[in-house]
Amino acid sequence: MNTLDLDNLSDQVLDRIRRRPGHFYEIKYLARTFKAAEKDILKALDQLKKIGYTFKTDKSGRWAMIAPPDLLLPAEILFGLKTKIMAKNVFAFKMVQSTNTVAHQLAVNGIAEGTLVAAEYQFGGRGRRGRVWQSPEKVGIYMSLILRPSIHPGRAPGISLITAVVLAETILEYEDIDVKIKWPNDVLIAGKKTAGILTELSGEPDHTDFIIVGVGVNVNQRPGDFPGELAGKATSIRIGLKENISRTEFLRRFLSRFEEAYLVFKKKGLKAFHKKILQYSYLLDKEIQLKSGRKRVIGIVKDIDEEGRLVLETKDGLQKFYAGEATLH
Ligand code: BTN
Repeated sequence: MNTLDLDNLSDQVLDRIRRRPGHFYEIKYLARTFKAAEKDILKALDQLKKIGYTFKTDKSGRWAMIAPPDLLLPAEILFGLKTKIMAKNVFAFKMVQSTNTVAHQLAVNGIAEGTLVAAEYQFGGRGRRGRVWQSPEKVGIYMSLILRPSIHPGRAPGISLITAVVLAETILEYEDIDVKIKWPNDVLIAGKKTAGILTELSGEPDHTDFIIVGVGVNVNQRPGDFPGELAGKATSIRIGLKENISRTEFLRRFLSRFEEAYLVFKKKGLKAFHKKILQYSYLLDKEIQLKSGRKRVIGIVKDIDEEGRLVLETKDGLQKFYAGEATLH
């Protein structure tokens, strides 16, 4: 059996046994089901074992899958996922420079909306404002979604905000901990950053061709895992919840919620999320300093309006900002 056939067989066997963890399957039965030789079924199971699936066997030589690995594999990302648009195509990598860069290339080549690019590790993870996004292996989620909404580019910042809301609510599904959104697109747990969003748009001044929503989530890092200056500023879901969580399960929950939110956003705009955005806002009613371009403005945050702008009460009156970097004053 060649490698491609073996890969196919492994996928089929996995699809069957993944549905009933702990259930024992006879090799003979699997061979009959997939019209394959028993020795090839064993090879397929071995291949799955090497990927990280754990199995047990009984005295009669039957195999049961005990646990899937917590790896960002297409089969794991898609397991039980009921979305209609998001993750309809999945490109999952062990290592890439940046999932946003890969997604951009795929989008330029015309790939469908909802395509997901995920990676275990990024060696050139990009953050906002030219910063680096630390992307250590196996503890975080690094992903990009390709969207093709027919919206005016001016509405694109709204996509970052709804992504932040969805991330916050996905975390809150686990436990009611202190999760906030820091405008424009950071997600904080107990005041420290746990996720960041990098939204990149391609189009004309009055037309959106596609949008890449890049999301980096610190999931299972431990306190000592954040180097240097990140130590005081970054956190992870694990630190917030005081337990490890499955990254693939988090990703699936995120994708389902995101699809729902995206459809509402397209239909009703950001105003449908206004209440939630304020409810989760870290900056609301606080005095901040905002760096926006060359400007530095001090003021009290009064609102995040229906276009996603930060509304500041300054000494010169109310001012609204589309973008910027806020620090508590
Ligand atoms: C920020 O907070 O500055 C945004 C961080 C965005 C990081 C994610 S990780 C997946 C995707 N690929 C990238 O290179 N960046 C985004």
